[in-house]
Amino acid sequence: MKGKKIIIAIDGYSSTGKSSFARKIAQKSSYIYVDTGAMYRAVTLYCIENNLVNDCGLNVDKIIENLKKINIEFIFNSTCEKSETFLNGKNVENKIRNVEVSNYVSAISAIPEVRAQMVALQQAMGKNKGIVMDGRDIGTVVFPDAEIKIFMTAKPEIRAIRRYTELLQNGENVTLQEIEKNIRERDYIDTHRETSPLKKADDAIILDNSNISIDEQMQWFDKIFQSVIKKQ
Ligand code: DC
Repeated sequence: MKGKKIIIAIDGYSSTGKSSFARKIAQKSSYIYVDTGAMYRAVTLYCIENNLVNDCGLNVDKIIENLKKINIEFIFNSTCEKSETFLNGKNVENKIRNVEVSNYVSAISAIPEVRAQMVALQQAMGKNKGIVMDGRDIGTVVFPDAEIKIFMTAKPEIRAIRRYTELLQNGENVTLQEIEKNIRERDYIDTHRETSPLKKADDAIILDNSNISIDEQMQWFDKIFQSVIKKQ
């Protein structure tokens, strides 16, 4: 993949394989990959560890007050050849994927001040282009002028099985039913929140990967990439 560098925005529902797809595209093109879900997850982990959330809900005022104390970075790990999420200098890559974080992340990412801080950071990361970013609002809010926008979807029951398998591999003790419930709840919150709800950008191309492999998705993407890059 040569030529002028572009921005590739990948949005879509939870557990549609956005990260694996985006990471592969980035590897192939030597672009930077940014997992924006990891950023919202890191903010959520900070809130859990600092008692800013509990079963009764969120302490929104305190969360906003604490935002200036939250520093998120991605650092490349050459052993596993992927970048990992750091929260205030600590590697939190595994911790941010646990069920407790998943249960609170949609509510925390709905806070407008949290979004404003993350969006500013994401825009700074993409200022030189050559970036693949995945999330929920990348093609609509973060980079509305991205040269390629993809909107990923898949059936909820298929997404639940994928997520369940991943969590079991990480040693989590969960049931398929609770994972599917969490996915459906997150879909609802993500698409109904007031600030930057998850929605397809008008010029995004839909990718439904319920029944297609990652290799097939890459072949599909390559054709799009080649035709866009030719026009640059
Ligand atoms: O992609 P993920 O499942 O790791 O994302 C975790 C949560 O973060 C998801 O429920 C919605 C939120 N999110 C968001 O609101 N905006 C983004 N750009 C990325 C994620």
